[in-house]
Amino acid sequence: MSKNYYVTTPIYYVNDVPHLGHAYTTLAADVLARHKQLKGYSVFLLTGTDEHGQKVEKAANAAGETPLELADRVVKRFQSLWDKLNISYSDFIRTTQERHKKGVLEFFSRVMAQGDIYLGEYEDWYCTPCETFWTETQLIDFKCPDCNRPTEKLKEESYFFRMSKYQEALLAHIEANPEFIQPKSRRNEIISFVKEGLRDISVSRTSFTWGIPVPGNPRHVIYVWFDALTNYITALGYPNESENMTSFWPADVHLIGKDILRFHAVYWSTFLMAAGLPLPRKVFAHGWWTVEGQKMSKSLQNVVEPNMLIDRYGVDAVRYFLMREVPFGLDGDFSHSAMIHRINSDLANDLGNLLNRSTAMVNKYFGGILPAPEELSELDQAYRAKTEALPGQVDACLDDLAFSKALQAIWEVISAGNKYIDETAPWSLAKDPALHGRLATVMYCILESQRIVFHLLSPFMPETAVKGLGYLGWQEPIRESGLAWGGLQADTKIIKAEALFPRIDEKGEV
Ligand code: MSP
Repeated sequence: MSKNYYVTTPIYYVNDVPHLGHAYTTLAADVLARHKQLKGYSVFLLTGTDEHGQKVEKAANAAGETPLELADRVVKRFQSLWDKLNISYSDFIRTTQERHKKGVLEFFSRVMAQGDIYLGEYEDWYCTPCETFWTETQLIDFKCPDCNRPTEKLKEESYFFRMSKYQEALLAHIEANPEFIQPKSRRNEIISFVKEGLRDISVSRTSFTWGIPVPGNPRHVIYVWFDALTNYITALGYPNESENMTSFWPADVHLIGKDILRFHAVYWSTFLMAAGLPLPRKVFAHGWWTVEGQKMSKSLQNVVEPNMLIDRYGVDAVRYFLMREVPFGLDGDFSHSAMIHRINSDLANDLGNLLNRSTAMVNKYFGGILPAPEELSELDQAYRAKTEALPGQVDACLDDLAFSKALQAIWEVISAGNKYIDETAPWSLAKDPALHGRLATVMYCILESQRIVFHLLSPFMPETAVKGLGYLGWQEPIRESGLAWGGLQADTKIIKAEALFPRIDEKGEV
């Protein structure tokens, strides 16, 4: 089995500053990357920015900048947010980089050389914000069916990609690979879309200039989606048979939002077929966040700024909330009250208290030195078995991108820990010197279970995991071997934990 793992985020347009939606996809990719890394995979996490096209050109004009000046400025915002959010990306690709432009030209030329790109004339309805052409029948009241904004009729000479040719091959691929497009409801939408018939699509523009010129005909620039999608291979070194290209293509998963599924599942797949390259193993479209029940939009001035959230709640609380609150694939709502509720109940109460009370007890009863366990009772065995089953459960959930379910499984073990303390009542055991050995066993089990829990939490909450493990005297790197029961050694110094997550009152004050 290959031990390489390649996960991507969309590359973000630079006409907008990063918001909650961008942070969400990138965070999900990071959690997967960190989890696979923990499991011993060699991981490549790619993110970046989509810098060409009319949208960016217009935004730059409006700001009195060149498109590249605008891009340079906004790219910094993305990169500093990813640092602040602890995103462990391997590479950050910008579509204005030479390495990318070179790869796109080669990709375009190869598809053209074999006859799947041809010159023709285009007349259809164009939605500028979506950079998409629509047929008249697709329009709703002459407005864009995706964003409901006005469209305009455009006629231009254009290069076309022979997408129609790949309709049957794509359908066959989707049907033979049930895992390819997820979630299932979205897969069905794509199947119906393909069955309705694929048209050849325009892959060049002459109405503006901010893009990669078509090889041999610089009056045209390459359509921004053709350019952007290719980032997933140019970042690996395409067209060179580079080591990264050989090791990491095809991608294990493209993470995207539901609005850009068609571009990935249909356009990108057929481009790859034409270029003779294998298709990504999975394309997963997540849902959209609303904010306090409303669509997030600049005009409503309710855009959630991830930097502000991190400053207010802390990076790991934000990471936890986004992965826990909504099953990946469904739409969800962001609200400060939901965020505060999660912090208080899951992080401060369940997770924080467990660490707090258990490390305090080892300090009180054993002077902070972890005792060796004696034989495990039935109760201890059951708790141990529950903990030992957890790594497999988390693996299975994350293979399905069920982040929230993985966290629920982890929280079941955390709750079992709090219950275990209540049932074993260490404070009573401590009163009877004859039960000293029993007390030692309980202390060992409770800390050992948490050590494994913190390992599994590390992809979601990297800083908290390191902090938690530090209190447990665990200095080794977080890796797969640490998932086995029995890692903590007797005589380890256990530090009484401070509150991992201070409670927040409803007004948001710590
Ligand atoms: N540049 C293209 C992607 C090219 S990929 C080869 C693009 N960029 S974008 O910046 O507009 O959007 C990036 C992502 O943000 C999309 O996956 C989109 O679904 C996501 N989101 C935008 N608003 C969102 C929410 N309100 N909630 C969740 N995700 C959202 O599209």
